[in-house]
Amino acid sequence: MTAEELETALERAARWLRVSERVCVLTGAGVSAESGVPTFRASDGLWEGHRIEDVASPEGWDRNPALVWNFYNARRANVATVKPNPGHFALVAMEDRWDDRFCLVTQNVDGLHLEAGSVNVLEIHGSLRKTRCLGCGAVANCGIEPLSDTPDCSVCGGRLRPHIVWFGEGLDDDVWMKALESADQCDTLLVVGTSAVVHPAASLVPIARRKGATVIEFNLTPTDASVYADVGLYGPSGVILPKLLQRLG
Ligand code: OAD
Repeated sequence: MTAEELETALERAARWLRVSERVCVLTGAGVSAESGVPTFRASDGLWEGHRIEDVASPEGWDRNPALVWNFYNARRANVATVKPNPGHFALVAMEDRWDDRFCLVTQNVDGLHLEAGSVNVLEIHGSLRKTRCLGCGAVANCGIEPLSDTPDCSVCGGRLRPHIVWFGEGLDDDVWMKALESADQCDTLLVVGTSAVVHPAASLVPIARRKGATVIEFNLTPTDASVYADVGLYGPSGVILPKLLQRLG
């Protein structure tokens, strides 16, 4: 998109946002790319060198939990070295503006939205910074420091697993219902840095659209969500989101 097209699109997006009562945001790996967290489907993507079924599935876990923890400890080590970028901070500033009428639904497990200061965040795919006990079910914050390859629950002594949604698993019902409600009720949905190919997360876009929301897409390129977008803002979200924030005044 040319600089002129971008300016026009930014102005349209700002006009819609200014009159929006409720805002929902769906983010994916692209929002953290400029922080240095690899996206999933890029050629240097995260799964490269790992068989998904070994490290991100219930079957892989049953076969070799230590290997799975090893993989997630490596991802945690990567995230420990990165910081939120201006895209994350622009979303914090937007939440300040809309307060509890702003909801950020993220597919990311890196915890960078919370680290940046976003409050109303739904981590629908879980978090690298949380564990879940297979004995008592307790979900606990574990920070980003390395854990052992076979960590145990401090409450009941049970085995801990990463609190991450793996392939073949469903989302947490409560978290997903809140995400649906937010998409259903918003006037504007921002879709940021996601290829929009993983469901049910991607279904939030048509759901919001059908309810009459304006959809604004932020990505490097058009995606499967573009067909629902009223405006596409194509460029790095760490640059484009702050530009939009500035326009909002
Ligand atoms: P993907 O890797 O599928 O898509 C990342 C998107 O970000 C792509 O559309 C890129 O074009 C875009 N992108 C890259 N850099 C960007 C930048 N600087 N600014 C804006 N956009 C940028 O990641 P997700 O859509 O998040 O699920 O993947 C969805 C889910 O697939 C993940 O949550 C994960 C995976 O399977 C689970 O682990 C359950």
